[in-house]
Amino acid sequence: MKFSQTLHDIIMIKLIDIDKFVQSRFKKTFILKGIDLEIAEGEFVTIMGPSGAGKSTLLNIIGLLDPPSAGEYYLLDQPVHKLKERQRSDLQKHTIGYVFQAYHLIDELTVYENIETPLLYQNMPGKQRKARVAELLDRFQMVAKKDLFPEQLSGGQQQLVGVARAIAGKPRLLLADEPTGNLHSEQGKEVMELFKQLNKEGMTIIQVTHSEENAQYGERIIRIVDGAIEKDERIVKEKEQEA
Ligand SMILES: Nc1ncnc2c1ncn2[C@@H]1O[C@H](COP(=O)(O)OP(=O)(O)O)[C@@H](O)[C@H]1O
Ligand SMILES: [Mg+2]
Repeated sequence: MKFSQTLHDIIMIKLIDIDKFVQSRFKKTFILKGIDLEIAEGEFVTIMGPSGAGKSTLLNIIGLLDPPSAGEYYLLDQPVHKLKERQRSDLQKHTIGYVFQAYHLIDELTVYENIETPLLYQNMPGKQRKARVAELLDRFQMVAKKDLFPEQLSGGQQQLVGVARAIAGKPRLLLADEPTGNLHSEQGKEVMELFKQLNKEGMTIIQVTHSEENAQYGERIIRIVDGAIEKDERIVKEKEQEA
């Protein structure tokens, strides 16, 4: 049987025997050990597991924020482990968007400026940049809030700005580490619905969450325990079963 989603034919992420360890004088402590993982373009994946299991470490490696200690990582067929810093940073800027639990907005910048930031890093021309920010403000119903500063917004609104900023540069991959961890359930739902929509539009999403309910928005759950993948399962949705 073939999956209906054609995007799923492109392998976006391939991790081969990835380790992450910290070395002290007398011993090596493994944070991740022997991670093998393939994620196809267009997937919506959830990483779950107990606190301290290594979820954030794994997401940071996938997001090129932190190098693995050993193993191979291919992102869109590029051997990340072999790239020079400059190439890695270019790949990062043009491919990946990040959403953080604590929003990580820049306090001194307005909503507009926060959303604009990644586009400046991408050297997008001014006119195009303005159009893109306007489009996002509109989509996120934030036009009236564009000149406010993060502290003038609710947590839910700040996270919407966080998501708008993350997708401003139209990344193919969106990474979110406990994006609803600081939100009320209604606000959390809004963010999850947004992710679902973005995924429908073709964006690959990998999120870390403690919420089984949030995990149901995706289609695959990877469970990490003690730095290793304990379980990797597809969520079978009713619609898919009928097809
Ligand atoms: N730079 C580091 N040095 C030492 N230990 C670390 C470092 N980063 C993470 N750890 C440890 O690795 C484990 C996994 O951390 P993390 O990936 O943040 O877990 P999770 O996100 O699943 O809660 C934890 O025990 C944490 O204390
Ligand atoms: Mg974490």
